[in-house]
Amino acid sequence: MSDEPILVTHGLTRRFGGLVAVNGVDFDVRPGEIHAILGPNGAGKSTLINLLSGEIPPSEGEVLFHGKPIQGKSVRQIAHMGIGRSHQKTNIFPRLNCLQNCELAARIHMGGVFGSWRSRQRARAVSERALEVLETCHLIHRAHTPAADMSYGEQRQLQIAMVLATAPSLMLLDEPMAGMGRDETVQVTELLESLTDRYTLVLIEHDMDSVFRLADRITVMVDGCVLESGPTEQIRASEKVRDVYLGRHHEEASA
Ligand SMILES: Nc1ncnc2c1ncn2[C@@H]1O[C@H](COP(=O)(O)OP(=O)(O)O)[C@@H](O)[C@H]1O
Ligand SMILES: [Mg+2]
Repeated sequence: MSDEPILVTHGLTRRFGGLVAVNGVDFDVRPGEIHAILGPNGAGKSTLINLLSGEIPPSEGEVLFHGKPIQGKSVRQIAHMGIGRSHQKTNIFPRLNCLQNCELAARIHMGGVFGSWRSRQRARAVSERALEVLETCHLIHRAHTPAADMSYGEQRQLQIAMVLATAPSLMLLDEPMAGMGRDETVQVTELLESLTDRYTLVLIEHDMDSVFRLADRITVMVDGCVLESGPTEQIRASEKVRDVYLGRHHEEASA
């Protein structure tokens, strides 16, 4: 596996009025890795993901995906380049069943690739892709269940399946375990672990056990800046990270 990064940012900065949400971030993602982003609330993690997926433009700096700038491209074009993302809040269609939700996501991907196909062939390809990702995400038995009738944990799994359905070469997941109980967190951690040999992942997650178990590298953000970035073991052992991030995290938890 080549260590050449598939995604690189240079001096990535995003301001909201007077607030610098992301401040001069140099960041890279290597093929096949799970790169976790840690940091207290308001650190700029979601804003960074929004910049990587092209949902918001940077104030300064650039994002290169496979060496090409994403600037000026639409979210759809960027998705086509191979960047798929999930949101912190669920964006599933509650009245549609799992299969239909995944088919919608797959259509976004295949619409372009199979643009000239006859519609019946295309519908079959979309449906095959949707079934495949439901299988991967252990939701195949729920294919015909309306999303609204599933547990919260299953809905988050469905979200991951929907990202996979767009066939991304890089997946950006914003707190996929948010609001989950212990069992559900373990279940989704195992799901993400099972994807590691096939996908490259940028993962924002608060659950330390999951992050330390899953991540190859970790970037810690504080107040829009990168505090430290490196292999998981380095971050786990870092005094600086312990003082600034874990210290504050624990204060918040006990506040
Ligand atoms: N659309 C926006 N408009 C104004 N301020 C925003 C917007 N999005 C995020 N922010 C602010 O930017 C900072 C970083 O937010 P965010 O990236 O959501 O942090 P995190 O995901 O690490 O909790 C916060 O102070 C937040 O209030
Ligand atoms: Mg966030």
